[in-house]
Amino acid sequence: MRVVIQKDYNNMCLWAANYIAGRINAHTDSRPFVLGLPTGSSPLGVYAELIRKNKAGEVSFKNVVTFNMDEYLGLPREHEQSYWYFMHSNFFDHIDIPAENVNILNGMNPDPEAECAAYEAKIASFGGIDLFLGGIGVDGHLAFNEPFTSLSSRTGVRALTSDTLIVNSRFFDNDPAKVPAKALSVGVATVTDAKEVLVLISGHNKARALAASVEGGVSQKWTCSALQLHPAAIIACDEPACGELTVDTYKYFLDIERAERL
Ligand code: GLP
Repeated sequence: MRVVIQKDYNNMCLWAANYIAGRINAHTDSRPFVLGLPTGSSPLGVYAELIRKNKAGEVSFKNVVTFNMDEYLGLPREHEQSYWYFMHSNFFDHIDIPAENVNILNGMNPDPEAECAAYEAKIASFGGIDLFLGGIGVDGHLAFNEPFTSLSSRTGVRALTSDTLIVNSRFFDNDPAKVPAKALSVGVATVTDAKEVLVLISGHNKARALAASVEGGVSQKWTCSALQLHPAAIIACDEPACGELTVDTYKYFLDIERAERL
């Protein structure tokens, strides 16, 4: 695992956007580059920088196919808090990606289990995901894989915990009762099956989750800890998120990254 420590949120986002653009530009196959994407506040700066790069001609998304991590169950795509709406207003509407290359779980499908099975099959039909960008929740959830979701889980319907309903209520009039109680989400194994996984962890409130991802044992209590089993996982984080790491851990990762640059 690589842990790339940047001094603040902006630098973390610039690093991640550069990494993603570099991977897309290095992809020379005729088959599309398959990119997994998250919602949330963590990736906003990454999306802004990728939009800038796209407009500046530094990266194109014409040969990129995307799969989003999750979507609320029962929210229509036109709802301002749907992840479909979030992704279009914050990213897809501003880049050159063909509309048919965008995949987002449909939270209004009357048969959500069939929706999820078809999503897994569609990912497989593209040969899997090349790079999965992710964020994590305060409790370490990866996509909507709350604590105690199986680390070998696949795309399916998830019940959200009270903690997540409270945290996400900031987008629903600060009323947890207004947050959809369930979501469709890729599984932990759907994420870790990707050839590369890049997870953004920013801010003091994610410090415990970062420590669990890096220093804790692999455990379904912290679904983000599954990254430890991935052969090419990268965590891009900022200084405030490092607050619960031991000094030694912090130094090791700085040493390793310094060596990478030599
Ligand atoms: C939601 C999403 C996750 C996201 C998490 C963290 O629960 N389902 O995919 O990683 O929020 O969001 P933020 O980046 O806003 O802290």
